[in-house]
Amino acid sequence: MNIENVHLVYFSATYTTRKVVRAVAARLPGTVVEHDITALEPPDDVALSDRGDLMVVGVPVYAGRVPVMAADALLRFRGRGTPAIAVCVYGNRAYDDALVELCDLLGDGGFGVVAAGAFVARHSIFTSIAAGRPDEADMAAIGRFGDACASLLASLPSVYGLVPPAVPGNRPYKTPGAIPIYPSGSRKKCTHCELCVRLCPVHAISPLRPTRTDGNICMSCGRCVEVCSQHTRCFSGMMYKMAQRKITKLCRERKEPEWYLAGR
Ligand SMILES: Cc1cc2nc3c(=O)[nH]c(=O)nc-3n(C[C@H](O)[C@H](O)[C@H](O)COP(=O)(O)O)c2cc1C
Repeated sequence: MNIENVHLVYFSATYTTRKVVRAVAARLPGTVVEHDITALEPPDDVALSDRGDLMVVGVPVYAGRVPVMAADALLRFRGRGTPAIAVCVYGNRAYDDALVELCDLLGDGGFGVVAAGAFVARHSIFTSIAAGRPDEADMAAIGRFGDACASLLASLPSVYGLVPPAVPGNRPYKTPGAIPIYPSGSRKKCTHCELCVRLCPVHAISPLRPTRTDGNICMSCGRCVEVCSQHTRCFSGMMYKMAQRKITKLCRERKEPEWYLAGR
C-alpha cells in the first residue's frame, strides 16, 4: 500500500499518548496530519479513503477502557477500507479491554486494522507509578513497532481479506468503575494564570475559583495537574491515598510493550 497521508488522531490529557503515537508516526511513510481529540467539542467529520490514507489512533486506558470522550470523537472519522494502526497507552496496571475496544471502534468506522500496540507511560493520576516511562527502552520498542507497521503496510496490496490482529481483551467489555477523585489547587500559591481553566478538556474549572474543580464534570484526567504553572494543582485526600496504596500494589511488576500485527 502506498501511504501518502498519515492521519495521527490522539486523545492525550497529559501528553504521553501523544508522545507515543508521534514516535510511531515518525517511522511511517507519508505526511503527518495531527487531529487532537482531547476536547469536549466534537472534531469535524473526516472521511478517509483506501488510496494513500492511513490513520494512526492513540488513546490512554481509562479504567480498562477507551475514554468515553475519545470513543465519541472517533465516530467522526470514517474510513473506506482505510488502513489503521491502533495504540493504547496505560499506566502499568493493565490495558484490559481497551485495545480490543479501540480495534472494534476502528473496524465499525470502516478501517482495516493492520497493527495494534499497547505501551506503558507514567500513570496520570498516581504519578509515582511507571514514573519516567516511556523510557529509553520503551521508545526503542515503539520505534520497532513503527518499523514493523511500515514493512507490513509496504507488503500489503490492500486491507481487504486481512486476518485482524489477535488482540487480547473481552467482549462484552468490562464495566468501568467510577474514579471519584479530583485535583485541586492551593489558594495561597495559585497566581490565576488560568492555564488549567483554558486547558481542562471538559471545562471543569471556573476562572472565578481556579483552585476548585467541578466534580460533576471532571474526568480525573490529570491535565490541570500537568499544566499548572505553579505546580500547585494535585490529587490529594484520604480517598486518593487509599486508592494509591491499592493500585501501587497492583502495578509493582514492570509491564513491557506488546503489539500484534494483522495476518494474511
Ligand atoms: C481516569 C483514568 C483512568 C485510568 N485507568 C487506567 C487503567 O485502567 N489501567 C492503567 O494501567 N492505567 C490507567 N490510567 C493511566 C493512564 O492510562 C496513563 O497514565 C496514560 O499514559 C495517560 O495518557 P495521557 O498522558 O495521554 O493522558 C488511568 C488514568 C486516568 C486519568
